[in-house]
Amino acid sequence: MLFRSWAQTADAHWPDVARVSDHVGVAHLVVTRHALVRQVLTDPATYRPDNALDAVTPVPVAALRVLAGHRFRLPPTLANNGGVSHPAIRAIVADALHPTRVAAQRPWLTGLVRERVGGIAAALDAGGAVDLYAELAADLPLLVLARLVELPDAPVGAVKEFARAALELFWAPLDAERQQALAAEVGRFHRVLREFAATGGGLAGSLRAAGHPPDVVVGALFFLLVAGQETTSQFLTLLLHRLAGEPAVLAALRDGTVAVGDVVEEGLRLEPPIVTWRRVAAVDTTLGGTAVPAGTSIVLWLARAGRDPATVDAPDEFRPGQRGSRRHLAFGAGAHRCVGDQLARMEAAVVVAETAALLDGVTVLREPWCPDNLTFRMPDAFVVRRR
Ligand code: HEM
Repeated sequence: MLFRSWAQTADAHWPDVARVSDHVGVAHLVVTRHALVRQVLTDPATYRPDNALDAVTPVPVAALRVLAGHRFRLPPTLANNGGVSHPAIRAIVADALHPTRVAAQRPWLTGLVRERVGGIAAALDAGGAVDLYAELAADLPLLVLARLVELPDAPVGAVKEFARAALELFWAPLDAERQQALAAEVGRFHRVLREFAATGGGLAGSLRAAGHPPDVVVGALFFLLVAGQETTSQFLTLLLHRLAGEPAVLAALRDGTVAVGDVVEEGLRLEPPIVTWRRVAAVDTTLGGTAVPAGTSIVLWLARAGRDPATVDAPDEFRPGQRGSRRHLAFGAGAHRCVGDQLARMEAAVVVAETAALLDGVTVLREPWCPDNLTFRMPDAFVVRRR
């Protein structure tokens, strides 16, 4: 279940806390209920975030050598930082992503999406097939992020390749050959980030000015370039696919009887791009009646928590605005709760508003396919044509 958790049937019975061994024999406690997932996320004294970015397939010596050759280091900065430096680093990142700055990007993004949707509509009208992942979802979040946070001058394709390589290296079941190739890709880009971190302005400059060491600046940029764009690309793709199969929701969007914001929240609840997130038990404890020895890896099944019948009326149905719709844990909770949530929501709202009419008349030629991964969906394509 661990590496394709989104493919689990919704009605299958799961214990509140399930012991599951992974592909290399490591045991994890998988937490399936909303209340328990929230309890873990909001109790940093008992459950630390230190393992959030640990490779789920141990990295063999050959790949470690490749990483070391690029002087790759990923010290605790944001998501895996349970230490005293976390609040100060987070505050600087949160400032760069402040809701006011996010809102200021909305008109520009709306113009860009409208232009893209015009081109897509013309291609569909001409009888063509269009990959909405490639043409719409893949690069938009990175383009917006680059306007909010100064980033290294690298082509979009290179950043996407690096980010997807990182998600695979740290969260996928892998063989040694693949790990080595991914280590080379991730290590190469880490070098680019290191150079930029030493001289770049914007967020990098603010972190340096606040006295944070170079490793922290690199770590923050590394995480932002992965978490700050790949997640939203994935979410946009999954949401567009879901909406293509929800004609009643599309009709309600057209009539204005459903709010775009409610559609985005229901999308986050039912199609979160991050399906699980990890913590590690800091002390011996119990969770939902299950003994948890210190050091245990805890896999929080965020996607399942969003479908917990205890919190939402119709867990498996896409009903924007239903009771419990907004109580999902797609962005986590507590001290490490996603700092880019308003940005992701704004991007999704613009895309839904601008594409709803287009989606109304399409047929799906190719559904998004997602490779095995503990945490990220990573859809590869979503191809449609006019009905
Ligand atoms: C739909 C899109 C997104 C989803 C589902 C998502 C989800 C998450 C989750 C589950 C966490 C871990 C929370 C926890 O440990 O409690 C997280 C953390 C984080 N996210 Fe997002 N995220 C998204 C988009 C973004 C964007 C657009 C940015 C920034 C541009 C971003 C930046 C971050 C950062 C910096 C953290 C670490 C916060 C900390 O440790 O203090 N995320 N996100």
